Amino acid sequence: MTAAPLQETRFRLSEQQARELAETYGTPLYVVDEAHFRQRIRTYCDGFRAVAPTGELSFATKANSTVALIKIAYQEGCSIDVASEGEFRAALMAGVPASACHLHGNNKQIGELETAIEAGIGMIVLDNFEEIECIAKFAGHGTKFVIRLAPGVDPVTHAKISTGQADTKFGFNIMDGSGERALLRAIELGLPVIGFHCHVGSQLLDPEAQISGGELIAKFAAEMKVRHGFETTYLNVGGGLGVRYTDGDVPMSHADYCREIVVAIDKALADTGLNPKLAQEPGRSLIGESGVTLYRVGSVKIVPAKEIGTRTYVAVDGGLSDNPRPALYGSKYTVERVARKRPDGTGSGGDRTYTVSGKHCETDKLFGDVQLPADLAAGDLLQVLCTGAYNSSMASNYNRYPRPATALIFRDGSHTLIQRRDTYEEMLAREILPKELA
Ligand SMILES: Cc1ncc(COP(=O)(O)O)c(C=O)c1O
Repeated sequence: MTAAPLQETRFRLSEQQARELAETYGTPLYVVDEAHFRQRIRTYCDGFRAVAPTGELSFATKANSTVALIKIAYQEGCSIDVASEGEFRAALMAGVPASACHLHGNNKQIGELETAIEAGIGMIVLDNFEEIECIAKFAGHGTKFVIRLAPGVDPVTHAKISTGQADTKFGFNIMDGSGERALLRAIELGLPVIGFHCHVGSQLLDPEAQISGGELIAKFAAEMKVRHGFETTYLNVGGGLGVRYTDGDVPMSHADYCREIVVAIDKALADTGLNPKLAQEPGRSLIGESGVTLYRVGSVKIVPAKEIGTRTYVAVDGGLSDNPRPALYGSKYTVERVARKRPDGTGSGGDRTYTVSGKHCETDKLFGDVQLPADLAAGDLLQVLCTGAYNSSMASNYNRYPRPATALIFRDGSHTLIQRRDTYEEMLAREILPKELA
């Protein structure tokens, strides 16, 4: 029996769209498909509500905090998860009421906490004892609090995006009793604590750790009821579901993922009398597959290489500053030629293996071992799939390159910019030449 082909869930541009967008806005360019993003949210939400009818879906803006995208997520019924004052301000600019935002962070600054609470933020996720003490004076402001727990599970993912293990900077350990002490101290100080939170890691293709995380925080909630009479009314299991960067990445469907987590939590809460509202706050699995990055090829170069004889580099007009994930996590992507410079040219003559490199001052192999047409040439357009998450939001001005613009494509094929490219003027606006150097 042959395996059924994988269902393609990623957005990709057609040749005509790619040409038009590159001509209109230039490259490199982030492109997001509005209908695709809305559909991803709806599928997740439907899958979640099928098993947890009052479930709350939050959009983790760290994945992509472009204001128009936050607005879409809010329009689709998501609450908004922010991890800094900057992300909070982006949510407010999108027209999201502060009451629909949750603030995270393992070292929130006093200024950030004050701004958030004075603006009427709905929820703050408490992360350390110092924060609990410092926030006590805001007990009566209407903001609700949840306690972030480190459940002590080790997910199968890259170490840098693994957060649920006991040895983590995030939250309060369950195992060493910190979680319980945090709850008791927050209650003692009069903070309206409503429940618990965990986020075990990101790009999870194996949901085991996430299921265990949910189960462990539910068991913890049950224990807090028995030991202290604390009634948990809210349990948030974070984000984490993976996406299809390459054909080798096979994430679970939103529905299956939600069911497995909710079943585990329900089981842990059976006979406890607790019926908390369940919440999730995915980022990558909502926006990741809705975006692509469009690059233009600048040069193709064949060089001698040890063991393999030769290597063919294809240099694109972006790189580390618009997608740091390959350098940070060794991430792999799907790269396609979407348009030839000369559409009337001859056939491609099959594929060959390329190393796609960026234009920065590193020996960067942005995307290694990519199969692309043998006649790839300067001026061709490449699209990199699944770059909607942690690309725009992690972009930098390294080498003083302007960060790319983001274009949004609507259902009818029309498009608009939702974030423009940096200008050199604004990139240099922070510079100060002191008079001492005159
Ligand atoms: C606390 C928290 N919630 C949610 C997320 C979103 O995770 P993902 O984009 O993997 O769904 C993260 C990611 O780092 C996180 O740290």
